[in-house]
Amino acid sequence: MIRVQVPLPGRAYDVWVGARAAERLADVLPEGVRRVALVTQAGVPDLVALDRPVVRCEVGDGERHKTLATVEELCRAFARGGLTRGDCVVAVGGGLVTDVGGFAAASYHRGIAVVHVPTTLLGMIDAAIGGKTGVNLPEGKNLVGAYWQPAAVLCDTELLSALPPREWRSGCGEMAKYHFLTGDDLMALPLDERIARCVEIKASIVVDDEREAEGRALLNYGHTLAHALETAGRYDLRHGEAVGIGLVYAAEVAHRLGRIDAARVEEHRAVVASYDLPRSLPVGTDPDELITLMGRDKKALGAVTFVLDGPRGLEIVRGVERGELAAALEALR
Ligand code: GLY
Repeated sequence: MIRVQVPLPGRAYDVWVGARAAERLADVLPEGVRRVALVTQAGVPDLVALDRPVVRCEVGDGERHKTLATVEELCRAFARGGLTRGDCVVAVGGGLVTDVGGFAAASYHRGIAVVHVPTTLLGMIDAAIGGKTGVNLPEGKNLVGAYWQPAAVLCDTELLSALPPREWRSGCGEMAKYHFLTGDDLMALPLDERIARCVEIKASIVVDDEREAEGRALLNYGHTLAHALETAGRYDLRHGEAVGIGLVYAAEVAHRLGRIDAARVEEHRAVVASYDLPRSLPVGTDPDELITLMGRDKKALGAVTFVLDGPRGLEIVRGVERGELAAALEALR
């Protein structure tokens, strides 16, 4: 079992990575917890056995359940189940479950402990790590939420063998992103070590900038176009597939701005291909629409904002010209 520490001052926690990591739950519950609210979904097997009362709460499947109404339902179930300030939420599931369960934990009694048990690759290397929780509004994704660090995260890698192939690829987009954050050849590592290394990379960024003043935004490498493709909503793309395209696009934009050479763009294509992810735009994309959506990205703060590769590594670059954005889109056809 691999232990990765997230050394946030006053809120340090461990992420355990390995087969049957979920069995550690009783050991990582904070002291004094008498009741546990298990936030999960129908069909997720009972991974955790506990010697104290468990209130099981199920969240519906799909993004349309990532709402304040779901958080209210969860908090009401916690109250009916008798959870007090000293008790704990255990969120077992994918990113939707840990985002919503984490936000309910952050809100109930103004904040109770939460342990995340992510069941997807994306959850293990991204969503469950770093304390971002939240829900969508009709006006936009993740517009309401809280930074609420878990007491522990258990990444049970035995669960990944049952992951459907496209769900697996969804996590691979984030893994390809980590490759460019550090230059590590993650593919050379056995799976548990690879996941632990991704957690370590994310943890080191979060520890330096928990609330995304600047450095944490590097975790959005490849996400500007990915979010636009997802928001357009017409393409059959999982998040990681959209990130794969977004990584190649960011490299094309950086090349047009003279920040990287053609060989580095090709390296982006090769790494994204090694994760079996798409490298070109889906058929029928409208460049004007994608450029408008990239300008509306909530990270944009007034101008189209990218994380771009360059001689000093990845950096935040604001105000990229429309012509460059369009030319780079053309290169991905
Ligand atoms: N998923 C990006 C972040 O946690 O900041």
